[in-house]
Amino acid sequence: FAFTPANLEWAEAQMTKYPEGRQASAVIPLLWRAQEQEGWLSRPAIEEVGRMLDMAYIRVLEVATFYFMFQLQPVGSVAHIQVCGTTSCMICGAEDLIAVCKNKIAPRAHQLSDDGKFSWEEVECLGACANAPMAQIGKDYYEDLTADNFAALIDRMAAGEVPTPGSQQGRFASEPAPGLT
Ligand code: FES
Repeated sequence: FAFTPANLEWAEAQMTKYPEGRQASAVIPLLWRAQEQEGWLSRPAIEEVGRMLDMAYIRVLEVATFYFMFQLQPVGSVAHIQVCGTTSCMICGAEDLIAVCKNKIAPRAHQLSDDGKFSWEEVECLGACANAPMAQIGKDYYEDLTADNFAALIDRMAAGEVPTPGSQQGRFASEPAPGLT
């Protein structure tokens, strides 16, 4: 792994933001940029970040494994889907969404779909509990999901569409959820 020249310049600029000897403080931005470059964090990428920051591989790996924003396996070329499985979403139907992922993408989390376009995982609360259940797809939140509108969302993405993020039932978080009126 090697950063592209533009990413290397950006990474080195991050490192200068910290006092001499404290360059390890730049570990998260550098990991993030490495992931944006490759789509996920390969071992060589983690090693390179460690080399640049004078950190042991295991120290960088500790950070990369702590946050679920970092992917340690290849992800779908179209999207990696993170389904929230915490209380609000679980009560409102997260298990149905996970069943859709298992049927449409792959039986196990972090497996690629047969066409390599999608991967998925269950994650903890993403802070959009008012519009549960929800999933983060790429960098966007898709909320008020049902098994049907979620499956349709995946089909549209597979066909090259970029569906509008937010509530998939067209409501604001301040409005009562369907069925609660
Ligand atoms: Fe799912 Fe908070 S419980 S977003």
